[in-house]
Amino acid sequence: MTIFLMILLSYLIGSIPTGYLIVKWKFGKDVRNFGSGNIGSTNVGRVAGKKYQIITTILDILKGFVPVVIADIACRNNLISINKELFLILIAFTTIIGHNFTIFLKFKGGKGVSTTIGSFVYLVPIPMLIVAILFFSMKLKTKVVSIRVLVCALVLFLSTWILGYDKAYVIATFCAFALICVRHKSNIVRIIKGEEK
Ligand code: G3P
Repeated sequence: MTIFLMILLSYLIGSIPTGYLIVKWKFGKDVRNFGSGNIGSTNVGRVAGKKYQIITTILDILKGFVPVVIADIACRNNLISINKELFLILIAFTTIIGHNFTIFLKFKGGKGVSTTIGSFVYLVPIPMLIVAILFFSMKLKTKVVSIRVLVCALVLFLSTWILGYDKAYVIATFCAFALICVRHKSNIVRIIKGEEK
């Protein structure tokens, strides 16, 4: 029962469409009608400016972070009887799926980048540090966020693998990379055509 409730709670936390709500409350606009149509922080930045982009990023990162921390606390207090590593990974993906397919917007959500960051910072902190350094240094090479995100997602998987993390984390980071690629399908098409902003 606790496992089911925690999975449900993670999905609902992930589902909170922060970018959509911020733009709606603050500007009375639907962020999905602008820019890339995404509800994530990059598109919030296009519609509402840097300040609201940063707020959305922080909230979406917290959405990924908090459920995994709660799951870890539950495991440490013996409230969960299954394998801790697998449970934390399950909670991370449930939260990301919540963001990507939110129940509050007819299952059409975001691309899950910030939420993935929040969860994986807790699960694999060293690879995430490498990825953070890479993300900001790549800014000198390209201002296209989606290119940097896709490269960083691949490097997250590779560094987790190379640093000898447990197989479960290597598979989890590969799945995170695959999911990010799938959610960035339209970005990838635009990158290939040279039309990505
Ligand atoms: O994940 C956000 C970024 O990679 C792409 O966002 O709005 O340009 O599709 P956007």
